Amino acid sequence: MYAFQLGREFKLSLAEIFAVFPQSRIEYADKNICIIDIESKQKLLNQLEYMWGTIKVIELFPAYKWKPVESIIDIAREGEWKFRFGLSFLWSDSSLKTLLMQAKKMLKEENISGRFVNKNFQNLSSAQIIGEWLVERGADFTIISAGKLEYFGKTIWVQDIENYSKRDYGKARDMIVGMLPPKLAQMMINISVSVFSSKNKSTPAVYDPFCGLGTVLIESILMQNSVVYGSDISPENIDKTKENLNYARKNFKNSVKTAEAIVLDAKWISSSPYLKKSDVIVTEWYLGQVFQKYSVTEKKIEEEKVHLLEMYTKFFDGLSRANYSGIIVISFPFWEVRGKYVYLNEIYELIKKYTKNLPLLPSHDEIKHTRSWSLLYKRPDQIVGREIFKLKMKK
Ligand SMILES: C[S@@+](CC[C@H](N)C(=O)[O-])C[C@H]1O[C@@H](n2cnc3c(N)ncnc32)[C@H](O)[C@@H]1O
Repeated sequence: MYAFQLGREFKLSLAEIFAVFPQSRIEYADKNICIIDIESKQKLLNQLEYMWGTIKVIELFPAYKWKPVESIIDIAREGEWKFRFGLSFLWSDSSLKTLLMQAKKMLKEENISGRFVNKNFQNLSSAQIIGEWLVERGADFTIISAGKLEYFGKTIWVQDIENYSKRDYGKARDMIVGMLPPKLAQMMINISVSVFSSKNKSTPAVYDPFCGLGTVLIESILMQNSVVYGSDISPENIDKTKENLNYARKNFKNSVKTAEAIVLDAKWISSSPYLKKSDVIVTEWYLGQVFQKYSVTEKKIEEEKVHLLEMYTKFFDGLSRANYSGIIVISFPFWEVRGKYVYLNEIYELIKKYTKNLPLLPSHDEIKHTRSWSLLYKRPDQIVGREIFKLKMKK
């Protein structure tokens, strides 16, 4: 069994986990942690490289071993080198001091050379776990409070955020300003793929009809998808998307077969050459004009909604006329106006008319969907947020 420590947008993190491991049994889930039974550790480790919603994964010890200090000493005995370890609580205010001091005493009694790396008996951050090489050359342990139960386990993977931004992709990304957050793009791609685990096909052909500078396409390539298509109304953006795709082809380790982009107004989506060739549409819709925090009003947003809805209606109508049958993972805007969220309520009617809303999370008491089955993503400092849906066109 494995415990996934979830990111800030925990519902999206959960949706991603359930989409990537659709057959797995959930033991427990709340806003911090998801405990899940996954059969293959190797498959899990392979997938984690492409999962953005998870911060850390802990392999849980069997219940009879949930004695933290004894388990730490057992593992220390096996080591050949000076044993370095960390210990954290998820989430509890209990002090780590007693346990760490007990472990230190027992290591000494057993003549094992070793030490803990916790500073001031505080939990370790991901950066500390990575900086100390604990997963590879030491051990990082976590005690987990999950409802009425406690679990104990050893970290097998930590998301290396810093390294991600440092790697080569950073160069291409420098060109990309005001884009869909790559982390959200990856989660949306993952959410779209669960359908494929049942088909004999490992990766879907992804199409973004509002591709902007190509974030969804580039993230798809990074996730080893070999066929990506994009279109956008703006010729400048398509030029930049093509530049970014060329960069990705040359510089990322992958096997891209097709990466194409054309200029196309999404109102005329039925004429897109990519509709028939793609398995999923993953897209962040045009969010409308950019509002400033101090000048935004509900009235201005209502006016903007009219423009957006006209385009959105034509888009769905076009998909319907073209008999598009793939999955659509899509984000619509919502806005925060002086502490209040203003949703694009009108979109719910439109979605109902043309599509079937697919659940993003399995039913579980601890996890509640929003009223419309969507999930929300919003950075605290931004006015505009994204409401994410997984849809299938009605026949
Ligand atoms: C929010 S951006 C998408 C950003 C993109 N996902 C990225 O991360 O680079 C929206 C894009 O929609 C495009 N757009 C606006 N109206 C459009 C329309 N009618 N048809 C197609 N694209 C449109 C804009 O040119 C812009 O590039």
